[in-house]
Amino acid sequence: MAPKRILTSGDLVADRRADYAAMLAESGDHAAAAELMEQALELTPGWTAGWVKLGDYREKAGLTDLAVEAYRRVAASPDAALFGADLKLAALGAVETPALPPSAYVEGLFDDYADRFETALVEKLGYSVPKKLAALIRNHKGDASFALAVDLGCGTGLLGPEIADCVSALEGYDLSENMLAKARDKGVYRHLARADLSLSPEASGLFEGMAKARADLVAAADVMMYLGDLDAAFANAAALAAAGGLFAFSVEKDEAETGFSLRPSLRYAHSRAHVETILTRHGFAPSACEETVIRMDAGQPITGLLFLARK
Ligand SMILES: C[S@@+](CC[C@H](N)C(=O)[O-])C[C@H]1O[C@@H](n2cnc3c(N)ncnc32)[C@H](O)[C@@H]1O
Repeated sequence: MAPKRILTSGDLVADRRADYAAMLAESGDHAAAAELMEQALELTPGWTAGWVKLGDYREKAGLTDLAVEAYRRVAASPDAALFGADLKLAALGAVETPALPPSAYVEGLFDDYADRFETALVEKLGYSVPKKLAALIRNHKGDASFALAVDLGCGTGLLGPEIADCVSALEGYDLSENMLAKARDKGVYRHLARADLSLSPEASGLFEGMAKARADLVAAADVMMYLGDLDAAFANAAALAAAGGLFAFSVEKDEAETGFSLRPSLRYAHSRAHVETILTRHGFAPSACEETVIRMDAGQPITGLLFLARK
C-alpha cells in the first residue's frame, strides 16, 4: 500500500480557516480563498496539503508567481512526489516537464477518485474511450476472437464488458487498489492485480508468476496520458503480446508534430508521429489511428487518438 497524503492540518483553527477557504473557492472567489489559506498556513507552516491548496487557489486567481512560490514549498517537503509538486510547477513553466509523473501521485489521485470515477467521467464528462476502443478492435479483428486480453490501467473495469464477447479470458492491471476493487465487483476479469507501467517489465508486476508473450490482445484505455515517456509502458505491452497480437490504446492528441507535452490538466498529450516511432522501436507495426473526441474537460472537447498496432 502506498503512503497516503495527509489532507488535514492537525490544527483545529487552521482546518476551520481552510474549510472556509474551500467554500470561498467553490463560490468562485479564489483570491479571498487564497488569503484565508495564507492565514491557515501561518498557524501550520509545515502543512504540505495546505500549500497545495494555496497554490491551487492562487493559480485560479491568476496569481501565477505566487502559485509557483506555494508549489515550491510543496516541492521542498518530503511528500513532494505524493502531491505531484514538480508536475504542478512544470505546468506553470517553473521547472522542466518531468518525463514521468511520480507513480505515488497518480496512485493517490485514482485511489481518491475510485468511488466517483464512473459517475464523474462517464456521466458528466462524456468519457467514451472504452466504447470507441472496443469498436476499433472489433472493426479490425475480422472473425477472430482473443484467447487472452490484458487490460493495462484497467481502472474500474469499463473496457472489460465492452470486449468480453470476443475474449475468452481477461486480465486487468492498475496502479490503484481502489480502482482494482471496483473492477473486481464487475466479475468480468479472471485476474486483477497491481502493476506499474512506468517500470520495466522486470519490475512492473505484470510478469510475477505469469508468462511473457501470453496475450493476443493488449489494451490500455486512457492510460498513456498519465505517462509522459511511453518507453516503459510500450516495453511492457511488447513483452505481454504474443507474435501477431494486437495492441490497442488511446492518447490525448498533441497538436505538435513530434514529442509529447504536459497540459494544464496535468495530463500528457502525445503526437501521432512520436507514438508511432516508439511503437516501431518496440516491435509493433502501427495498423490504425483514429482521431476522435474522448471526453470534455472544463467545458472543452478533448481530442484523442486511438491506435491499433500489431506485433
Ligand atoms: C482515466 S483512468 C482509465 C481507466 C480505464 N482504462 C477506463 O478506460 O475506464 C486511468 C487509469 O490508469 C491507471 N494508471 C495510471 N498510471 C498508471 C501506471 N503507471 N501503471 C498502471 N496503471 C496506471 C490509473 O490508476 C487509472 O485507473
